[in-house]
Amino acid sequence: MGQVKTEAWNGPGEALDVARVREDFPILGESVHGKPLVYLDNAATAQKPRSVIERVARYYETENSNIHRGVHRLSEQATRAYEDARGAVRRFVNAAQDREIVFVRGATEAINLVARCYGGANLEAGDEVVISAMEHHSNIVPWQIICQEKGAILRVIPIDDRGDVVMERYHRLLGPRTRIVALPHVSNALGTVNPVKEMIADAHRQGIPVLVDGAQGAPHAAVDVRDLDCDFYAFSSHKMYGPTGVGVLYGKAALLEAMPPYQGGGDMILTVSFEATEYNALPYKFEAGTPNIAGVIGMGAAVEYLTGLGIEAVSAHEDRVLAYAVERLAGVSGLRFVGTPARRASLVSFVFGDVHAHDIGTILDQEGIAVRTGHHCAMPVMDRFGVPATVRASFACYNTEAEVDVLAEGLEKVRRLFDGV
Ligand code: ALA
Repeated sequence: MGQVKTEAWNGPGEALDVARVREDFPILGESVHGKPLVYLDNAATAQKPRSVIERVARYYETENSNIHRGVHRLSEQATRAYEDARGAVRRFVNAAQDREIVFVRGATEAINLVARCYGGANLEAGDEVVISAMEHHSNIVPWQIICQEKGAILRVIPIDDRGDVVMERYHRLLGPRTRIVALPHVSNALGTVNPVKEMIADAHRQGIPVLVDGAQGAPHAAVDVRDLDCDFYAFSSHKMYGPTGVGVLYGKAALLEAMPPYQGGGDMILTVSFEATEYNALPYKFEAGTPNIAGVIGMGAAVEYLTGLGIEAVSAHEDRVLAYAVERLAGVSGLRFVGTPARRASLVSFVFGDVHAHDIGTILDQEGIAVRTGHHCAMPVMDRFGVPATVRASFACYNTEAEVDVLAEGLEKVRRLFDGV
């Protein structure tokens, strides 16, 4: 596989004042092993700006209360903040209605919810679910579980040597037994940006709904669920500068309405008796129990932070750092990219000689550099490329070309320690 240059995902955008952006993130002032932190593990989780940290603290200091349940002032205030966050998220992805935004624990729970509630209600023996060969485990295992339960079949769109889906095979997989397609917007292991809009239109021509796993999409580019026309879009707060333990399932109202609830409990009901229960309206039907109130409010603050920076400016900045990383690392002898997709976002995945990824990660850590090493919860991708693991450097709004240089110098240190790279 050659060191193929990839197209930028986004066009040129406003310049981001990265020095100023970095000041918003307290953790970026930390040292690791006596070296300035170079945080390149953003696809695992992004750092949090002060505005998010302070918003969560303010909730606990001045507003802490349960929501939708109290007539007292704190409860009303917390409810308003929680529902304001829903509005902020709705605007961020351009959904038509607040009730199409369901708060869940993260992208993983959002996908499990759709597999369980949509798949559970619509799959029968012999039906098919189509996913791709570049999925994160969270967009494989929930479908495997429901397919096993229903006697349905999981079909997998192959990917080529660059890490792009083979479109012609995708078209051939869609058929009268396909009940749903589930695809990643951006691959967490390869960085591939999938042509989801086109793939959704292809599925819709046959009346098949599409779920997009947007965990690596929403943090990096403007997402417009109405323009994409996706039926479901799943994403997590913590990869877009918000707290962990909260995320979103966007779903078209008509589909969510028709689905049974995910979990039973408080807040998802209108009336309960021992004979029968009447469920609450959307989105509360899917939000049983006390939710992660602080997390949701923090996610709202994160969305406002990203909106304030300008998601187009963030995307364009990340594209520039990524293009620099591809060029700079291609010049490191012995380094081989795993995945050179036509359109790539925010990360590079590579192997370096025959040094194990974990050894590389440990040496880089000594230089203050945080990368992810391993299979990235995408074991079938590792199998496809015949490697046990890769090193992944993933970028966010605060990363710089100078940090890519530090990474490249760190790799030279790996070379010095391991003869033969
Ligand atoms: N899904 C996250 C990653 O790719 C954790 O690292």
